[in-house]
Amino acid sequence: MRDAPPQTTNTHWSEDILETDGPIDKTQGNLPPDLVGILYRNGPAKNKLANHLFDGDGALRAVRFAPDGTASYQCRYVQTPKYSREQTSTKPLVRGFGTQPPGGILRNAMRGSPNQANASNTSVMFSNGRLLTLWEMGLPWELDPDTLETLGEMSFDGALSSRSTFSAHPRNDPVTQETYNFGMSYGPRNRIDTYRIDRNGRLFPLARTPVPVSVMNHDFALTSKWAVFLLGPVIFNPVPLLTGKAPFGKAMTWKGDHPTTILLIPREGGKAIVFETDPWFQFHIAGAFDDQNEIVVDFCRYPEYTNIDNALTSFRSIEDDYVLDATLWRCRISPTRRTLQSTQICPIPMEFPHMDTRFATQAQHFIYGSFSTDVSPSSFGSAIGRVNTDTGKTDLWDFGPACATSEPIFVPRKEKTTSDKIENEDGWLLAFVYNHIEHATDLVVLDAARLENGTVWVGRLPHHAGMTFHGVWRPHA
Ligand SMILES: [Fe+2]
Repeated sequence: MRDAPPQTTNTHWSEDILETDGPIDKTQGNLPPDLVGILYRNGPAKNKLANHLFDGDGALRAVRFAPDGTASYQCRYVQTPKYSREQTSTKPLVRGFGTQPPGGILRNAMRGSPNQANASNTSVMFSNGRLLTLWEMGLPWELDPDTLETLGEMSFDGALSSRSTFSAHPRNDPVTQETYNFGMSYGPRNRIDTYRIDRNGRLFPLARTPVPVSVMNHDFALTSKWAVFLLGPVIFNPVPLLTGKAPFGKAMTWKGDHPTTILLIPREGGKAIVFETDPWFQFHIAGAFDDQNEIVVDFCRYPEYTNIDNALTSFRSIEDDYVLDATLWRCRISPTRRTLQSTQICPIPMEFPHMDTRFATQAQHFIYGSFSTDVSPSSFGSAIGRVNTDTGKTDLWDFGPACATSEPIFVPRKEKTTSDKIENEDGWLLAFVYNHIEHATDLVVLDAARLENGTVWVGRLPHHAGMTFHGVWRPHA
């Protein structure tokens, strides 16, 4: 286990991101007149002390699209205790997901808590008008949506305790206007806590469900009836963590001879259904829906976990030696027969799937994502793409081997209600595109239905935005 941060070789992944405000200089096209609102994106931004990409302190990047056709950028760090403690340090002081302070086992044994390690760097959500940054092993942090000032840790008015965990992938049901989420809990009894948040932002515990194996899990699926967990065999061994030999993430090991566990929790309460299937790993689920008596889940499936884990640990050189091996799959789950059948939808490697969130929990035709193509196979996705889930047809716009794309956020061209016929390709895709050669980040806008036409608008951020994991669009009120 390394005590000191490794040498930096890739500025995209390792250079600290500046807190800055400024206009975005247009380099191509005109902004669509109906694209008015704010794109918020979160990701690790202060990474010099981190030995794992997941340990970089979070910073919220906001892009504001004004009615006059201009756009501006703002970036602010989330002022967590971890960020404050380490702000001027030259070595890590906090035991994180994959990072240990120097001092070996004497320094690290029995030390570390989620509160101290919370980098709030993974995702962002709105709950009843409150802007929250998320990190899966701790509580959300609340920021001012206008100034990005950190307002404090957020417990949903005491509904979550200081020991609660709240994942970075809450799922909204636009039909009921409820949001569901979960938290993983490890200990003598491993469990998943699920939560329901009503339309007024009040959080209620849904279930406390034991899990038969202590696995790492990042995301879940929500249908009209079910909370669905696909628990791949990345299994936690507490001994290295407790004895100080390894941080949490390195106490997780891929066990390819173990099954993936399927856990189905009824939204309306009742006993969970648990069964096993062939092993795989996924970080991200694109979407899910009920299809009569079956559950359909689309997700980015890795054949195993070790490859991506090594890449995230050696993130400073990730562009040199990593080939993304996740592809889009669909599984059909029968809760009554306790069976799962899966098929690959698209063979092109992809991550960061996104869909039209107005129709979450319903069947949709299109999944958007960041794709790794033959143009730049050793990169984390040089293309933005769209997959037709019915046919597998995939449309791509590739930015070239110098570029790394972010998760594309779908923004509908015009508001529709859930009662409208689903024609959910009618909108824009917003993404950050980092250019390694120019060491700069562009904000790009593409027509979601016409990716082959390329970018509709491109603007250059006043400072490169580094790696961002997830974002949310807030339309102009
Ligand atoms: Fe994620």
